[in-house]
Amino acid sequence: MLAKAAAQAPPIHDLTTTAQSPYNRPLFPEGTPLVADKRYSCIGLYNPKSPENVGSVMRAAGCYGVASVFYTGKRYERAADFVTDTKRVHYDIPLIGIDDLKKILPLNCVPVAVELVEGARPLPEYTHPDRALYIFGPEDGSLDKEIRDWCEDVVYIPTTGCMNLAATVNVVLYDRMAKGLNTRSGPKFR
Ligand SMILES: C[S@@+](CC[C@H](N)C(=O)[O-])C[C@H]1O[C@@H](n2cnc3c(N)ncnc32)[C@H](O)[C@@H]1O
Repeated sequence: MLAKAAAQAPPIHDLTTTAQSPYNRPLFPEGTPLVADKRYSCIGLYNPKSPENVGSVMRAAGCYGVASVFYTGKRYERAADFVTDTKRVHYDIPLIGIDDLKKILPLNCVPVAVELVEGARPLPEYTHPDRALYIFGPEDGSLDKEIRDWCEDVVYIPTTGCMNLAATVNVVLYDRMAKGLNTRSGPKFR
């Protein structure tokens, strides 16, 4: 029976012309730009402590369409729980533990430190990168100078005193959304 099926199959060199196969289409339709043009944002949490905060960050990530969330340190893992991520976003958006945020920067993505610190740029006046990795400090500390220096920009929200970690993530993502297509390359990006 197998021999009969093999005898009826088209020869290998004919496969590319078999019209019904979806694999016969050209890889990219005509007019496809050579450079990818999709905006996105990622989040990096530096040694977060509370599962409630990480859960709320995941919820924000789901609401604002974040591509992935990374975190460093072991404190969060020891207490992991997603009570505040009631929409179970952590099943849809990757939440990845890593040892160094510098190692996971995607190609062409701009690292932005978010910290209430002297010399930072005020968020309301900030034009977001097309592709951004926003990095936030821990609940009981701040982003150290080394990571701030590595980031291309440092931004702050002009509040009286610092906000809760997850609240800060929500504000930054809301600001990005509110500015719409007004990222660095403008409407050229999707
Ligand atoms: C709860 S805060 C850190 C606590 C703070 N360093 C303190 O005084 O103890 C956690 C993180 O949220 C971010 N954050 C909070 N308020 C901010 C603000 N107004 N501007 C920028 N970042 C802020 C920073 O990334 C900060 O490291």
